[in-house]
Amino acid sequence: MANILAINTKQERVKIDRNIYGHFAEHLGRCIYEGVWVGEGSAIPNTRGIRSDVVNALRKINIPVIRWPGGCFADEYHWKDGIGNPANRKRMVNTHWGGVVEDNSFGTHEFLDLCAQLDCEPYINGNVGSGEVAEMQEWVEYMTFKGESPMANLRRQNGRDEPWAVKYFGIGNENWGCGGNMRAEYYADVYRRYATYVRNFDDNKIYRIASGPGTEYGHEKLNHCWTRTMMENARHMFDGLALHYYTCIGTWQEKGSATDFTEADYYKTLRNALWLDEVIKQHSAIIERFDPEKRIKIIFDEWGTWYDVEPGTNPGFLYQQNTMRDALVAAASLHIFNSHADVVHMANIAQLVNVLQAVILTDGAKMLLTPTYHVFNMFKDHQDAELLESHQLCGTAGEVVPLLSHSATQKEDGAVTLTVCNFSADKEAEVSLSLLGGHMSVRNAEILSGGTSSHNTFGSPQTVRPVDFTGFRIDEHNKTGTQMTLNLPACSVVKMTVK
Ligand code: AHR
Repeated sequence: MANILAINTKQERVKIDRNIYGHFAEHLGRCIYEGVWVGEGSAIPNTRGIRSDVVNALRKINIPVIRWPGGCFADEYHWKDGIGNPANRKRMVNTHWGGVVEDNSFGTHEFLDLCAQLDCEPYINGNVGSGEVAEMQEWVEYMTFKGESPMANLRRQNGRDEPWAVKYFGIGNENWGCGGNMRAEYYADVYRRYATYVRNFDDNKIYRIASGPGTEYGHEKLNHCWTRTMMENARHMFDGLALHYYTCIGTWQEKGSATDFTEADYYKTLRNALWLDEVIKQHSAIIERFDPEKRIKIIFDEWGTWYDVEPGTNPGFLYQQNTMRDALVAAASLHIFNSHADVVHMANIAQLVNVLQAVILTDGAKMLLTPTYHVFNMFKDHQDAELLESHQLCGTAGEVVPLLSHSATQKEDGAVTLTVCNFSADKEAEVSLSLLGGHMSVRNAEILSGGTSSHNTFGSPQTVRPVDFTGFRIDEHNKTGTQMTLNLPACSVVKMTVK
């Protein structure tokens, strides 16, 4: 079967919110501690305790937003433990993740400093499961109130005069599970109570995010109830509903190895990743029934692959390697989010460093960029661009998933970014590309490819990295546009800029 991609460069559909390229950093394993925070006294180069190599790498991919401090950790976190003189900060047990000591050396000031160093928005997740209403109210006051008040004065005492701008605030996390095991009806009421006290101080307008359902491959109907109940009972008090979806190979009990997998596992992983489209379609249909104006958006604040931990590592630390298979999951997921940009306002891959589908792995002073990092770097031109009308016609890969996945967007200067994946584990895909709307030439083109399990290690950190892509030829320019042929190697992601 011929593979065809047609893009209409004169037909814009919707602007893609840059927040779709967001991240998530939890106090879990070596994400915050070592991955981001090494402390000012560390031999690893840092700025005010935040490691410089990680910041420099993350700045390159234009991170728009980071969610913190969890996750399940958020509903055990008491923010006052993480402010003031570090020597006096309370030490606690991180009961959810490995039972290790949390010394609270990374707290509110340090997180907001990280966001300033990255020039990105903070998204703070408050504690509903084990925290008090007043505690949440005071946190918002501490961070965002300019005037004279107990919390604003405490912030000043701790060395920060001006308030921070904090737009995104989550009111609980997975409150059907680790965030308190609540029923939907109960959480809807609790949510209303907490949200009442999450105030807008001065000109800081908070975008309130309610905990949504967890979702699972093939079981979407089970989760409809949570979304419907929240929409019925609390929709007037939130702007975004948080959804979570993780891609496993098998069941939660048998997730499989991150690097040692069969071709059948590879296709199963991709099939499960593509279920994300169904999750968004089904939940946005429920949301729209109650909110036809589409004021309420989906905040997909946890997504990514979840495998067994690397052998020999703490099972509570969720440390996994990252291969070309993950690169394709990332690319396919970002394509799906782009295609639903009218309803998805933000998405946050789990997690930033050393946990689950991380863009960066560290080992002491060493750092490497994963294949997923390279996808975020190749896709950054989609941020805030207009999604173009496009269609694909293709065969299947492994008789399980469509052969291709793609997005095409346009920036104000007219440059079109096309990203396209060939999911086949072993076959090149020839694609006939029609760019309707004018005479276009290729400005740059790069490719990330390899075997399905190719990955970077600390001994060989450049095994998987983008290189120039030359597998295209212009067949014809005519009145209607430009016709090209692309030859996409097996298991690859290609980015082309044309103008
Ligand atoms: O990302 C790891 C965990 O997965 C988060 O803490 C939780 O919200 C989800 O179950």
